[in-house]
Amino acid sequence: MTAELEILRPDDWHLHLRDGAMLAAVAPHSTWARRAIIMPNLDPPVTTSAEAAAYQHRIRRALPRGSDFTPLMTLYLTERTDPADLAAGVETGIVTAAKLYPAGATTNSARGVRDLDAIMPVLERMADLGVPLCTHGEVTAPEVDIFDREAVFIERVLAPLRQRLPELKVVMEHVTTAEGVDYVRESAPGIGATITVQHLMLNRNALLAGGIRPHYYCLPVLKRERHRQALRRAATSGHARFFLGTDSAPHLRGAKEAPCGCAGCFTAPVALPCLAHVFEEEGALDRLEAFASRNGPAFYGLAPNPDRLRLQKTRSPMRPPSSIQTPEGPVEVFDPGVALYWQMEPAYA
Ligand code: NCD
Ligand code: ZN
Repeated sequence: MTAELEILRPDDWHLHLRDGAMLAAVAPHSTWARRAIIMPNLDPPVTTSAEAAAYQHRIRRALPRGSDFTPLMTLYLTERTDPADLAAGVETGIVTAAKLYPAGATTNSARGVRDLDAIMPVLERMADLGVPLCTHGEVTAPEVDIFDREAVFIERVLAPLRQRLPELKVVMEHVTTAEGVDYVRESAPGIGATITVQHLMLNRNALLAGGIRPHYYCLPVLKRERHRQALRRAATSGHARFFLGTDSAPHLRGAKEAPCGCAGCFTAPVALPCLAHVFEEEGALDRLEAFASRNGPAFYGLAPNPDRLRLQKTRSPMRPPSSIQTPEGPVEVFDPGVALYWQMEPAYA
């Protein structure tokens, strides 16, 4: 039995850190990652390079003293995004990627994109500069069933966009379906996908069977078991274009346990222990490093981290806190529903 595992320090290629008091409370829980792609869906969203720089500054101030965590900033694309502003942000190193939220697809996406044609000049500029487009890959058309929204996005939006602009690097964020996995595998190299911890660990029964569990509600919504199996195969395969993006998305307990609860799981504190658990179950601990630490930077054209992270398997299960406190109230920590034995050394946050 492997009791210890050392991997290159991971990164998180999809992370929500929020702002203000919430930011200060959650940021320390992500410092096991050396870098993270920070989602821009604040209210109001981060739409310009200047706003990204200011947000990056607030994140750095919220980190524990001495932390080497590096926030990689993204711009929230709107139909008014200025290609020159994006290019300037890339030039100064503030902007790493831009995020496409179809309007209405998820938390704070109302200002997102309705008409892809309207952002073609920005996308062309991004393709020229080699800047990745991160996509929330779900259509929002009301007639499309919520469980089908990812597959339909590929058909209606992603495939045509890739034909139109094959040079554009695209990340399918939080891929959740066998169709999504197959699409990435079968495509030419410019497309990758992040996978979350909750989609590797749970299927939709966890959300809906025997009672509704709002803390398992996230977007894209948990899918059937066969999709979870496809995601596990992709993540543990070592395939270079699948990598970790936790999509850790904290919301106050009261906002989730509500008649219309918010989408998002706060996974940051347990993401690595959960991942090690999954990779061990799949007999693929030797591929954890590729998924968590190598494939992401390679896709983004960055070097892997020079330092390492150690995980130790303990005899008794770890006891993560069930919630963390913020000045505005508690935030539930993701509970995978199984005992976790892999602990990070040193214990981050
Ligand atoms: C995210 C959030 O709360 O910001 N929620 C989620 O369920 N994943 C938004 C997102 O990534 O869709
Ligand atoms: Zn997200």
